[in-house]
Amino acid sequence: MSGLAGRRFWLIGASAGIGRQLALRLAEEGAAVAASARDGKALEELVAEMAPVRTARGGHAAVRLDVTDPAGASEAFGEVGEVDGVIYCAGAYEPMSARRPDLPALRNIVNVNLTGALIVLAACVPAFCRRGAGRILLVGSLAGYRGLPGAWGYGATKAALIHLAENLRCDLRGSGVGVQVCNPGFVATRLTDKNRFRMPFLLSPEAAAERIVRGMNRNRFEIAFPFAMATAFRLLAALPRPLYFPLLSLAFGRRGGTS
Ligand SMILES: NC(=O)c1ccc[n+]([C@@H]2O[C@H](COP(=O)([O-])OP(=O)(O)OC[C@H]3O[C@@H](n4cnc5c(N)ncnc54)[C@H](OP(=O)(O)O)[C@@H]3O)[C@@H](O)[C@H]2O)c1
Repeated sequence: MSGLAGRRFWLIGASAGIGRQLALRLAEEGAAVAASARDGKALEELVAEMAPVRTARGGHAAVRLDVTDPAGASEAFGEVGEVDGVIYCAGAYEPMSARRPDLPALRNIVNVNLTGALIVLAACVPAFCRRGAGRILLVGSLAGYRGLPGAWGYGATKAALIHLAENLRCDLRGSGVGVQVCNPGFVATRLTDKNRFRMPFLLSPEAAAERIVRGMNRNRFEIAFPFAMATAFRLLAALPRPLYFPLLSLAFGRRGGTS
């Protein structure tokens, strides 16, 4: 049993990758999950696979949602019903350099990673505040710490999500609503399958979900992993730009990418 047992979460981005494994781990912890994403069949399969859980707010559910649909999130939140918290894990990524921009892909990255998060939060945070209780977990990325090569668009949305989590933490102080941000390094999913470079400290989605659940139980503001990569990124984040840019050129040359 953990602090998560008996809780019910709305998890957006639950059909694949990290979100899917996180849903399965939360169910093992005794939490119910209302799972959202576009792929309804994958959500139904997930619900069938999760350990059965009943909570005071209800059990598991599959609720289709395309976060790029502006009206979709409030409708989906109505369908989801009562939850103790929301986890925003939906994400889109294309390796991209500013030398070869792909505008449709960039729009989708911004709409899914950032605008979608804002729309989902607008749907559920006021209800959490009225109730005086709730939890918010945003899945960002270590790629949001600083500008990196090959992450055009994606890195900016992840930096914005980290900023957004800090905003929320300040805005919601004293409201009873807790805020956390999760910044993973590389995790082997269909998202990182697109990368054509060696990914150091690559984790499985299961290992990532394990670390997220541990972090949710510890309730610190930031859940960053794996430890070695998160520590390296924290050091990089502390470097002044006249040192950071030459160091990055040494490490990457003109190539590279992130997720
Ligand atoms: N993998 C990594 O190395 C890594 C590292 C750092 C951070 N992250 C972040 O972790 C999160 C999960 O990534 P992942 O690696 O697990 O990727 P993934 O396997 O591609 O999963 C992405 C999830 O987002 C959902 N999604 C995408 N577009 C959506 C839309 N328009 N509406 C609703 N849901 C949508 C997908 O579901 P549908 O396609 O069914 O809609 C899927 O459930 C992302 O935020 C990603 O940026 C990943």
